[in-house]
Amino acid sequence: MKDKEKPTDGKFSRRGFLKGTSLGVAAGTMLGSARAEIREQAGLPQARLLKAAAEHKVTFSLNGAKTAATVRTGHTLLETLRDQLEMTGTKLVCDHGTCGACTVLLDGEPVNSCLTLACDADGRAVETVEGLAQDGKLSPIQEAFAKEDALQCGFCTPGMVMSCTALLRANKNPSREETQQALCGNICRCGTYINIFRAVDSAVKAGGK
Ligand code: FES
Ligand code: FES
Repeated sequence: MKDKEKPTDGKFSRRGFLKGTSLGVAAGTMLGSARAEIREQAGLPQARLLKAAAEHKVTFSLNGAKTAATVRTGHTLLETLRDQLEMTGTKLVCDHGTCGACTVLLDGEPVNSCLTLACDADGRAVETVEGLAQDGKLSPIQEAFAKEDALQCGFCTPGMVMSCTALLRANKNPSREETQQALCGNICRCGTYINIFRAVDSAVKAGGK
């Protein structure tokens, strides 16, 4: 091996990497033209295919109201809620399904809306934090969050509240362990967990969710 091709860190040489990359690009180009050929044979021009795949009309119940939206194939429910329907109570934080800030209820089950495709909400019931208060009155768990000072920056709060809502609907008197389990997908960077757990206890005592 010539000096210039020797690995610099014991694994890869720069030249080897560049060679590999060129091969990858060439392979990608070949694949692309193969796909174009298949499309042509099938009589499907690329523009028409893209348009067909690009937009879908979805209808779902949003906090009890029938709602329609036109979404692109890869649009997430979170994007649709925040950018199209102006439901900005649901927060975008990690965008990778790790923090739970974007938690909404889909047919009553808590889901990360950043990992849920908008198309998958078609015909289903979506609930966000905006739908919890009724007639201007906060829900019992929202009241309890305020009473127990269960937030600092508040970024995790809508997701936490939605997960707590689902928990209390399913279990009227959860143990501390059950509460921890229900909230294990919701991260609070400010570390207000103790007060959040107290808020759940407080909502239970107040007899609501
Ligand atoms: S923003 Fe969806 S899990 Fe973090
Ligand atoms: S209150 Fe700040 S992340 Fe939870």
